[in-house]
Amino acid sequence: MWQKLKEFSKNDPLIFTIILAVIIVAGGFGSVQMMHMTSTAKFCKTCHPKESAEVRGEYYTYRIGIHSEAGVSCLDCHGAPGMQGYLQAHVVAGMRSLYHEIFTSEEQVVKDLTEFASDPEKAAHAASLDSCIFCHSDAANAEMRRNRVIKVAGEFRAIDEVINPAYRKEFGRPDIMTEGTIAGVDPNHAAHMKAGVTCFNCHLGIGHSGVKDHKPAMETCFKCHDEVRKDVKVPANEDCAACHTMQKGIQQGTYVKAVQGDAWYMADLNCSDCHDSAYTRPTEEKCATCHDASYSQLMKDTQADYMAKLKKAKGIRDKYQKFFPGMEEGRKELYLEMKNIMRVLENEGSKGVHNPEYFDMLFSKVEELETAIKTWTPPVVEKVEHHAVKHEEAKEEPKEEAAPAGPVNTAEEMAMLEGSESINIAERHVPAPTKPAVIFDHKGHAERLACAECHSEPGVLKVEIKEVKGTKNVFHDELCIKCHKEKKVKTSCNTCHKK
Ligand code: HEC
Ligand code: HEC
Ligand code: HEC
Ligand code: HEC
Ligand code: HEC
Ligand code: HEC
Ligand code: HEC
Ligand code: HEC
Ligand code: HEC
Ligand code: HEC
Ligand code: HEC
Repeated sequence: MWQKLKEFSKNDPLIFTIILAVIIVAGGFGSVQMMHMTSTAKFCKTCHPKESAEVRGEYYTYRIGIHSEAGVSCLDCHGAPGMQGYLQAHVVAGMRSLYHEIFTSEEQVVKDLTEFASDPEKAAHAASLDSCIFCHSDAANAEMRRNRVIKVAGEFRAIDEVINPAYRKEFGRPDIMTEGTIAGVDPNHAAHMKAGVTCFNCHLGIGHSGVKDHKPAMETCFKCHDEVRKDVKVPANEDCAACHTMQKGIQQGTYVKAVQGDAWYMADLNCSDCHDSAYTRPTEEKCATCHDASYSQLMKDTQADYMAKLKKAKGIRDKYQKFFPGMEEGRKELYLEMKNIMRVLENEGSKGVHNPEYFDMLFSKVEELETAIKTWTPPVVEKVEHHAVKHEEAKEEPKEEAAPAGPVNTAEEMAMLEGSESINIAERHVPAPTKPAVIFDHKGHAERLACAECHSEPGVLKVEIKEVKGTKNVFHDELCIKCHKEKKVKTSCNTCHKK
């Protein structure tokens, strides 16, 4: 059909253009139906139809991206929020497209589109910066809602229904201007926006790169920082933790608010102790430069273990993803928490190396959340006061059960501790200590744990103490750390080896 139009237009371009303009404008303003029809992604596909990640394949890449899954349409990004933005995108840009379709050679179109796709400044003309901020920041959303006519009769596209923070929260996403990123490098969005850096400087390709989770490459950051460094203060490229807040937080065991663990033994190592440069991924040989050769195998084992756990956890997440749309609010919240923990586990990149124990806690949290989603019951809204009181009581009961239930050992047994309320273990068993001696709080443990947890009979430990040397020793592997891990008690070195 376009072929025919092209032929016709070549004969009489001026008249053709005028006729088209009339049709589009009349169609645009006159018929809501027409507006709807020409707003759909399928309609755009007629001229952007390729089935590959290249220009003219925008419908295809859009379908792969995270936005289409979230129900964001072409015109949500390609027209500014509000009625005016919509008409501009629809009528003005629409006419321009049509014009180019007919009068511009295919080589020129490919060249133009390639520029829109690869140059941040051009991209800012193709897509709407306002629309990005409208959906991803609360303050910008509120301001535009105040100052623009957002919609007039009828819904033409999803963006005009976006009211934050409700909208972004539905997806468990942060306000990029006031909160950090949830999973990934945290660039400090607000500081960049203030400095005039736009979304497209970093997120070029967010619409049409052909991958689902598109993230900025490190090279993008370094390139610009190296350019602006003389004039403004930007982090040194070697200052890994300035950007890699996630990896740093994982090492410290503090990254996920809901799960606070221990700093990894190696938390004090610099990133560059293992990463020879920003672009190198350490291999297992690296471990053996500081440790003995067995640690290379340890790294491999850690990663294999991690990947197995990740696979299982993904299975859990994906199972519930299917049910997400129909979930009640309370369940949705739990699911989103799980989803964000999974984003951390999938994106962190070290496959367990940066803090195996903390990752284990995150995996446990995913399982906990699964149980919570499964067993979630809607809160009962009580109308009669009498009942409300009862409800309160019912809620308190399990709380009391969870509290420590009386002494676990008899007074007689406790009396046997006399004289050994606290024990200097190193003095007894370590001929050549290299670490601060462990003073074991015997009484404190016996107050909480049955004697039998540690003793086979009074005074006789259930483990056999051989030579205590190095980190592979009986206290670590069979008694103290073993139990701490099982009971999720702290295991960082200075918990026990206090200076
Ligand atoms: C009649 C064919 C046709 C249709 C239908 C069409 N486009 Fe295009 N579009 C083009 C052509 C041709 C270009 C290349 C323009 C150039 O060379 O600068 C283009 C360019 C674009 C650009 C690049 C920036 C710009 O504004 O020029 C965007 C964005 C775009 N189209 C989005 C859309 C969307 C969204 C839809 C659906 C609402 C759509 N197009 C429907 C033919 C079309
Ligand atoms: C209509 C609202 C809307 C518009 C417009 C919009 N986004 Fe989004 N964006 C979303 C939603 C919703 C998600 C999260 C989807 C999910 O979690 O499934 C998202 C996710 C993202 C992500 C995270 C991707 C990832 O893989 O984690 C980035 C980055 C992003 N958007 C950038 C942009 C940019 C840049 C623009 C402007 C071109 C933009 N968005 C326009 C709603 C929008
Ligand atoms: C200085 C570079 C930079 C700029 C400018 C920038 N971003 Fe980002 N953005 C990032 C990085 C880096 C991430 C984290 C990506 C990762 O590691 O997964 C991110 C993450 C996001 C996320 C996901 C947050 C989460 O945790 O769910 C959204 C949404 C987002 N950006 C939207 C935008 C929007 C909208 C703009 C423009 C207003 C913008 N960004 C501008 C670099 C930038
Ligand atoms: C998340 C927002 C978003 C959505 C949704 C979106 N785009 Fe885009 N589009 C962009 C951005 C941003 C650019 C600039 C280049 C880039 O970053 O990929 C762009 C560039 C383009 C371009 C010109 C450059 C190129 O890559 O060819 C065309 C044409 C285009 N989009 C068409 C579409 C069509 C058609 C749809 C729907 C099927 C669509 N876009 C949906 C954000 C979006
Ligand atoms: C187009 C240029 C440009 C790009 C691209 C860019 N930055 Fe920046 N960056 C700046 C400028 C300018 C500043 C200084 C901002 C200010 O005045 O505080 C800055 C500052 C920073 C800071 C310090 C912010 C603070 O808290 O003071 C961090 C962290 C940062 N950038 C991370 C990133 C990351 C991560 C990326 C890549 C995803 C990136 N930048 C890409 C220009 C850029
Ligand atoms: C200016 C911010 C910034 C600094 C400084 C920085 N990175 Fe990155 N780095 C990024 C971004 C953005 C990515 C890509 C997003 C991602 O992988 O989450 C990345 C990716 C990586 C990757 C993955 C491989 C790759 O090429 O994508 C490694 C490994 C890495 N960084 C290590 C380091 C180390 C080590 C340092 C310090 C020597 C460092 N980075 C400094 C922002 C930075
Ligand atoms: C004990 C050594 C060690 C230390 C210290 C360390 N890393 Fe890593 N890191 C690794 C290993 C091993 C990998 C996984 C490499 C692989 O699987 O290819 C990794 C992976 C990564 C990745 C993911 C690369 C990718 O492919 O996505 C990033 C990013 C990263 N580290 C950043 C950091 C940062 C930032 C720090 C400091 C806060 C740091 N690392 C400290 C050993 C270390
Ligand atoms: C730059 C030197 C260095 C590199 C490289 C290094 N480590 Fe370590 N590692 C240390 C230090 C220092 C400690 C802390 C020991 C202590 O507190 O007694 C440590 C502690 C550990 C511990 C806990 C204590 C123990 O000995 O069992 C493990 C496990 C470990 N490292 C594994 C690894 C693995 C796996 C790699 C390779 C990815 C690696 N390390 C690379 C220096 C390094
Ligand atoms: C968390 C582990 C743990 C628990 C629980 C525990 N003990 Fe011990 N107990 C030890 C350790 C370790 C030693 C020191 C063993 C050694 O030095 O050979 C010890 C030593 C003793 C000794 C020998 C005293 C000494 O000075 O050598 C007696 C008696 C004893 N425990 C009784 C008890 C009784 C009775 C209970 C319960 C009321 C109890 N223990 C609970 C770990 C525990
Ligand atoms: C059978 C399980 C078990 C064994 C064995 C065990 N612990 Fe504990 N440990 C616990 C529990 C439970 C706590 C209490 C944590 C709490 O209530 O905060 C604890 C707490 C501690 C604390 C205090 C941690 C804090 O909160 O700062 C230290 C120190 C400690 N244990 C050292 C040891 C040493 C040394 C050994 C080996 C001689 C040991 N533990 C053996 C279970 C055990
Ligand atoms: C839950 C308690 C606990 C934790 C946590 C713990 N240790 Fe130990 N460790 C002991 C006990 C008990 C001994 C034997 C008594 C002693 O040396 O004080 C011991 C002995 C050792 C020894 C052999 C004795 C020596 O001084 O040479 C080394 C080495 C050692 N630990 C290193 C570490 C390192 C490194 C960490 C952190 C990765 C750590 N330990 C964490 C309880 C613990």
